[in-house]
Amino acid sequence: MESKEKADQMTGFSDTGPAAVGLYPVGKDRGCYKGGSVFAGGDNVNKAGTQKIETDRLILRRFRLEDAKDMYENWASDPEVTRFLTWPPHASVDVTKNLLADWIPRYEDGGYFNWVMEYKETGKAIGNISAVKLNESTHAADIGYCMSRAYWGQGLMPEALIAVMDYLFDVVGLNRVAACHDVNNPKSGRVMEKAGMKQEGILRAAGKNNLGICDEVWHAMIRSDRKK
Ligand SMILES: CC(C)(COP(=O)(O)OP(=O)(O)OC[C@H]1O[C@@H](n2cnc3c(N)ncnc32)[C@H](O)[C@@H]1OP(=O)(O)O)[C@@H](O)C(=O)NCCC(=O)NCCS
Repeated sequence: MESKEKADQMTGFSDTGPAAVGLYPVGKDRGCYKGGSVFAGGDNVNKAGTQKIETDRLILRRFRLEDAKDMYENWASDPEVTRFLTWPPHASVDVTKNLLADWIPRYEDGGYFNWVMEYKETGKAIGNISAVKLNESTHAADIGYCMSRAYWGQGLMPEALIAVMDYLFDVVGLNRVAACHDVNNPKSGRVMEKAGMKQEGILRAAGKNNLGICDEVWHAMIRSDRKK
């Protein structure tokens, strides 16, 4: 792929391109969670795509259509989960199925990073972590995530975020991994801190989610942080 424009056209993640079925909305804002963007690659970047990653309690893997039921029941239909996100809760499992049907073909592109979190103990799909924005010139990714309420408070998302960051630095070869949260959603900030990201600053009125316009708190880890 030669340009970001071309990548955006392929994935619908451009400002003007077709939205991803309008469910995990995509577009201009840097919103905290959009379900995946695509990376066109470049020097020193390995377009390894969404490969399986195993942690103590989780398997991070590609979505399958069969995940629709778990995804809908466990997190995508829950307004408490989507409160600080940019997309509305799914109204039916068909909405979730359509979204997965849109996402799954994107795995053919090695610049697409979008994992379902499978809880090893039960084999259930419990959440999602993905690169929501990628910058090929700076070799940087912004990450978004969300998870079933039943699993909150066990350190599972920090576990997933650490594993995804390791993958993006060590396998893909990125130089920067960042994430943001609504200033009123500090528990997401805790995930970033626990995963070793540093807080960089607050962009006032820079984001928009289901609660309206919000101040965004940005955290990041850069490659040189990891040597310390
Ligand atoms: C944010 C989220 C991913 C946290 O994941 P997690 O695996 O529960 O993270 P942790 O277990 O490390 O908990 C992080 C913080 O959440 C808070 N928390 C923990 N359990 C909680 C619960 N049952 N209810 C509410 N908040 C809780 C605590 O403040 C905790 O920080 P602490 O460990 O210093 O006490 C999860 O709450 C979620 O999916 N929220 C909805 C989607 C969302 O907001 N995504 C981020 C958008 S930027």
